[in-house]
Amino acid sequence: MARTALVTGGSRGIGAAISKALKAEGYNVVATYAGNDEKARAFTDETGIATYKWDVGDYEACKAGIAHVEEEHGPVDILVNNAGITRDAPFHKMTPQQWREVIDTNLTGLFNMTHCVWPGLRERKFGRIVNISSINGQKGQFAQANYAAAKAGDIGFTKALAQEGARAGITVNAICPGYINTEMMSTIPEKVMNEVILPQIPVGRLGEAEEIARCVVFLASEQAGFITGSTLSANGGQYLA
Ligand code: CAA
Repeated sequence: MARTALVTGGSRGIGAAISKALKAEGYNVVATYAGNDEKARAFTDETGIATYKWDVGDYEACKAGIAHVEEEHGPVDILVNNAGITRDAPFHKMTPQQWREVIDTNLTGLFNMTHCVWPGLRERKFGRIVNISSINGQKGQFAQANYAAAKAGDIGFTKALAQEGARAGITVNAICPGYINTEMMSTIPEKVMNEVILPQIPVGRLGEAEEIARCVVFLASEQAGFITGSTLSANGGQYLA
C-alpha cells in the first residue's frame, strides 16, 4: 500500500508543487492550509489531493487534525513541514506580534506537527521528515530578524531530531530554498527585487517551486535512508553554505 505523505501549507506555492510531485511518485498525499478556503478547494478539484484546514502554530489543532487525517488516510509516514509566512520589517519597526506570528508558524509549527506524528513513526520504525527552511536562515536577511531566526531554528531542530530518529528508521532533513517564484515574492518591492536580490543570484533567475519539490521527492524516498540531519541548499548559487 502506498505510504501517506502530509504536506503543510501544501495547497499553494512551493507546498502545492511538493504535494503534486509526491502524488506523481505514487504517494497518498494530503495537504494542510491555514486560511484560503477558495484556493484549497480549487487545488483539490484540480489535483484530487485532499486538503485540511488548521493552524500549525496551534498544538491542539495539530493533534486533532492529524488524528482526523490518519482516520481517513492511514498513518502518516512522510511529513513535509512547509507552511511558512513572512512579516518583513526592519528590526526597529518590527512589532512583537510580527515576531510571534513568524516564530509560531515557521518554528513552533515544526515542533507541533512533528511531535504529533513522532510516536507513530517510532512504533512503525519508518519515517521521513522534510523541513523547508530557507537560504535566509543560513545567511540572515535585511528586514527578516523574525524569519531568519525561525528558519535557522528549523535547521537546529532538524539536526537534533535526526540523531533521535536514526535508530528508529526515521530520517530528518532540511531543504533551504533560495528565492523561488511564488506569491511570497510579491511582497518584495520591485526595485529591491531587481536591484538588490536578482543580481545576487548567479544563475540569474528565481527558482521554480518544482525544483524544490524534486529535492523533497529525493529525501522522502526509501532509497534516501542513509541521508539524515543534512541541509540541502537549492538557491541558484546565491549562498554557498
Ligand atoms: N536588502 C538591502 N536593503 C533593503 C532590502 C534588502 N533585501 N529591502 C529593503 N531594503 C532597503 C530599501 O531599499 C530602503 O532603502 P532606502 O531607504 O535607501 O531606499 C530601506 O531598506 C527600507 O527602509 P524603510 O524603513 O523604508 O522600510 P519599510 O518599513 O518600508 O520596509 C521592507 C520595507 C519590508 C523592508 C521591504 O523593502 C521589503 O519587503 N524588502 C524585502 C525584504 C526581503 O528581502 N525579504 C525576503 C522575502 S523572500 C522570503 O522570505 C522567502 C525565502 O525564504 C527566500
